Amino acid sequence: MSLPATDLPTMPAIRIAPSILSADFARLGEEVRAIEAAGADLVHFDVMDNHYVPNLTIGPLVCEAIRPHVQIGIDVHLMVEPVDALIPLFAKAGANLISFHPEASRHVDRTLQLIRDHGCKAGLVFNPATPLSFMDHVMDKLDLVLLMSVNPGFGGQKFIPSTLDKLRAARRRIDAVKAETGRDIWLEVDGGVKVDNIAEIVAAGADTLVAGSAVFGAPDNDGGYRNVMQTLRQNASPHAPSLRESLPPEGARSQLGAARR
Ligand code: DX5
Ligand code: ZN
Repeated sequence: MSLPATDLPTMPAIRIAPSILSADFARLGEEVRAIEAAGADLVHFDVMDNHYVPNLTIGPLVCEAIRPHVQIGIDVHLMVEPVDALIPLFAKAGANLISFHPEASRHVDRTLQLIRDHGCKAGLVFNPATPLSFMDHVMDKLDLVLLMSVNPGFGGQKFIPSTLDKLRAARRRIDAVKAETGRDIWLEVDGGVKVDNIAEIVAAGADTLVAGSAVFGAPDNDGGYRNVMQTLRQNASPHAPSLRESLPPEGARSQLGAARR
């Protein structure tokens, strides 16, 4: 049974995407269930190949393994080179968004189209030193712009302050597309997002916040992440209702989760 539109809970204006890079990999199913229960909007899934970045993490098999544990979307951040061969594998494994670094693909436009052809939302990721001009000729194929606020490869690094100006510049480009076409492009930030800087990051224009060590490093006494998620959300949008009030009842939440996938 679907809810009438008037009964639907207000969706948060800000999306919070905990990065499982800082989760306990030996209990990954439990960890993703805990962040969903705490109100996470997405699972951020960092894929590193020890080639594009100097670290090695998780691939499509792990994505497939966690997929049945949550209903929220899986936001796959590919830090790999080359990119294309992994796209069908992650789409099949249940990814909802797939983003990649333009330096890692010979044909950025083709890779974006490939992601969309496989039924996922497509994103482009900008390293701290990567100019925003990489998005100029592919705006029509972008669903997500992800600005790295650290150099990719590791969790737990410090937020690079110049990202704030870059965010404002990216927000202007995205708003221009919205004004011209009515199309929404998400603006995500990844790296060093904490309870004490999330407000200024949102003020600079971000609407989707990745947080790894800030979330998984601050468990509740029962191993959940409700307190830190609530603080992040309240600091991000101080005038929004508290997490507990804004969370829909279980049934409605399941339907929303399904609708987002
Ligand atoms: C870095 C990853 C990030 C990272 C964020 O290469 O893309 O997603 O896990 O971690 P924190 O929030 O700890 O900076
Ligand atoms: Zn990431």
